[in-house]
Amino acid sequence: MRFCSPVIALASLFALMQAPLTSQAAGEKKLEVFSWWTSGGEAAALNALFDTYKNQYPGVEIINATVAGGGGSAARPVLQTRLAGGNPPDTWQSHPGWELLGQYVEPGYCEPITELYTSNGWDKAFPKDLVGLMTKDGKTYAVLAGVHRGNDLWFNKKLLEKNGITVGDKLSMDEFFADCDKLKAAGIPALGVGDSGIWASAQLFENTLLGVVGGQGWTDLFAGKMKWDDPKVKEAMKDFAKMQEYLNPDHSALSWDQAIGALIEGKVAFSSMGDWADGEFIKANKKENVDFGWVSHPGTDGSFIIVADGFTLAKGAPHKDAAIAWLKSIGSKEAQEAFNPLKGSIPARTDVDKSKFDAYHQWSMKSFASATLVPSCVHGEAAPAAFQQALNDAVTAFIVDKNVDNFANALVQAAKESESNK
Ligand code: GAL
Repeated sequence: MRFCSPVIALASLFALMQAPLTSQAAGEKKLEVFSWWTSGGEAAALNALFDTYKNQYPGVEIINATVAGGGGSAARPVLQTRLAGGNPPDTWQSHPGWELLGQYVEPGYCEPITELYTSNGWDKAFPKDLVGLMTKDGKTYAVLAGVHRGNDLWFNKKLLEKNGITVGDKLSMDEFFADCDKLKAAGIPALGVGDSGIWASAQLFENTLLGVVGGQGWTDLFAGKMKWDDPKVKEAMKDFAKMQEYLNPDHSALSWDQAIGALIEGKVAFSSMGDWADGEFIKANKKENVDFGWVSHPGTDGSFIIVADGFTLAKGAPHKDAAIAWLKSIGSKEAQEAFNPLKGSIPARTDVDKSKFDAYHQWSMKSFASATLVPSCVHGEAAPAAFQQALNDAVTAFIVDKNVDNFANALVQAAKESESNK
């Protein structure tokens, strides 16, 4: 059996939670946190987590192990090498669902932290469905720092106004393309993309797909009840192909946050991106609803693509009690209220002081409470890593050949392979 007995695991976890940090030898008061949070907004928010931790558990030196690259595309392979080589960081960033359970829990890289949920009242503070995505065989393996909404369309408000464009509460695909045409006629790239990491374009497709198939279609697709060559999926592929006509020409040279930077500078008008983009606007001191605005990605009003960020406890963590303290800190109201306003995500805890959040966050919290919640594929939640990779590869090919049948067939094939490997 791969895992040690849950009873032993819980007992040792409990013992460690009781041990004061001061019981560590001086040289061991360290904590290594692994993430890919390096953009302006991401780093500012991560620092807020560090500051909260330092206040709550003084005297621990934090090793900030980051590997740059949005969506973790560069970080995850580095992490895998470390984990496979028996050299884990104490704790690392992970999305719930397939990523956490398939890539880290299944091979035995994580220690369960179930006991933290009961001893800290988290079983009441966090939504059960989200905790369920981090739980296997009754054991929970991560605590969430925040919940991003993946399907947002951001825009430069002043640039749109200058071009006679106003965006209401919702935007249909037809309205969106009409706006794009206006901007194109004015010589402005309507849609800013930064896909030096291809996941950013995969995300544009993911959002577009949701807009066409809807929340139920999404569930059906990932449950194998709708096929990847369904006419609706192909319609989304055609929309995605059409979007390519309105892109900034330098998209493949830019990262996601540079594309948001281009939006801020008025070089592009829209960008379809998860609300970590909000962190960039905040970092740049831009005013919401004055300098920038947002709406659900065309057709996705009423749905919320969850991109949640959790932290794990490594099995064999070199600084285990500091790591447990880190997880306790992340799950505290204080950390959730310090981190999320800067990150663009909403707190995973449902009992925070909402008045501490700006209009965007209020909007997202409202959406989270009422919308159909669906997991992201691009961010590793909805499908196994192999399918996530196959989607990235298929998007890379499609951007060049625009061949809908090839795109659909590649995904049909990838879905079959993931199914047979389950
Ligand atoms: C996501 C992550 C977010 C954000 C984004 C861009 O995968 O969940 O927190 O950092 O990548 O890097």
